[in-house]
Amino acid sequence: MSERADVARAVTVLRAGGLVAFPTETVYGLGCDAESPAALRRLFAVKQRPIDHPVIVHVASAAAMEAFAADVPPVARALVDAFWPGPLTIVLHRSARIPDEVTGGRDTVGLRVPDEPHALALLAAFDGALAAPSANRFGKVSPTTAADVRADLGDDVDLILDGGPCRVGVESTIVDCTLAAPAILRLGALAQGAIEKVLGAPVQLRTSGETVAPGTLRGHYAPAARVVLVESRAVAARASGLLASGERVAVLMLAPAVADLPAGLTVLDLPVDVDDFARVLYTRLRDADRARVDVVLVVPPPPAGVGGAVVDRLTRAAAATARQ
Ligand code: TXA
Ligand code: MG
Repeated sequence: MSERADVARAVTVLRAGGLVAFPTETVYGLGCDAESPAALRRLFAVKQRPIDHPVIVHVASAAAMEAFAADVPPVARALVDAFWPGPLTIVLHRSARIPDEVTGGRDTVGLRVPDEPHALALLAAFDGALAAPSANRFGKVSPTTAADVRADLGDDVDLILDGGPCRVGVESTIVDCTLAAPAILRLGALAQGAIEKVLGAPVQLRTSGETVAPGTLRGHYAPAARVVLVESRAVAARASGLLASGERVAVLMLAPAVADLPAGLTVLDLPVDVDDFARVLYTRLRDADRARVDVVLVVPPPPAGVGGAVVDRLTRAAAATARQ
């Protein structure tokens, strides 16, 4: 079917209160009409997501944002001008068009314009707002291909728009613009430094402590395998020890691989830089589970650029899968 026909069918499904998975540049989203409480309730049920965890609302443009936010402070305008469409979610006070089901009852809403042609075509044709969390069950690794969505959600999703693999591979950066000074609630695809450059000031990180953004729960982004973070010079010895105790072991690290890796160790990937690392991260964690690997040794990349988000997700995955 043509792309335009797919989008038209998706709009029909959404208008009827259905669920449509669609690609964004970061990860696949599971979308529904953000103004339909019934559709939102089904979305939360399918995701098995606690109802007090707010979802991101996707709009077609910065102009469309105005209808869903109660007020847009200058910092938010500056960020939106610089980074939309793109992997930035801004938290603003919500307008009356955003139902409680979107926000878990809080008076703020997370908004974003994704930078992906299918998503933008869908949003333009839908002519409204789409609530869309990542299209996986709650707490699992986000999907970066249509096949990942199908594997996770099966027939619980009414339609999947297939845009191929996601270009970025980790979720958007979330900036709370309702505070006196804007703060990053979730590290993501857009680097902290890029945000600070536009704002002309340091931005505080509020990604832990009291949970402002539930994606920051320690148990998020976890595969079934244990994720263990190691320095590159410790990989070989660590892998040998685990293999000797009978575990299936894999490694993920920036290229080049260390020289003396033991036989029997699965090399999941050797990304060439941090962008590549972000792009393959979730797919490789899924590969590890498909290969029934027990332990994934990961050498975290440098935290520059999108590397900050990669290290964040890996740290959470390691905490979530650590042996008690
Ligand atoms: O890249 C992304 O952001 C992807 C794509 C699909 O756009 N979406 C995504 O959604 O990662 P989800 O539901 O998996 O994560 C949404 C995050 C959660 O951490 C949630 O707490 C936060 O956004 N969030 C949404 N609305 C919020 C609000 N009003 N205040 C604070 N955090 C909010
Ligand atoms: Mg998610």
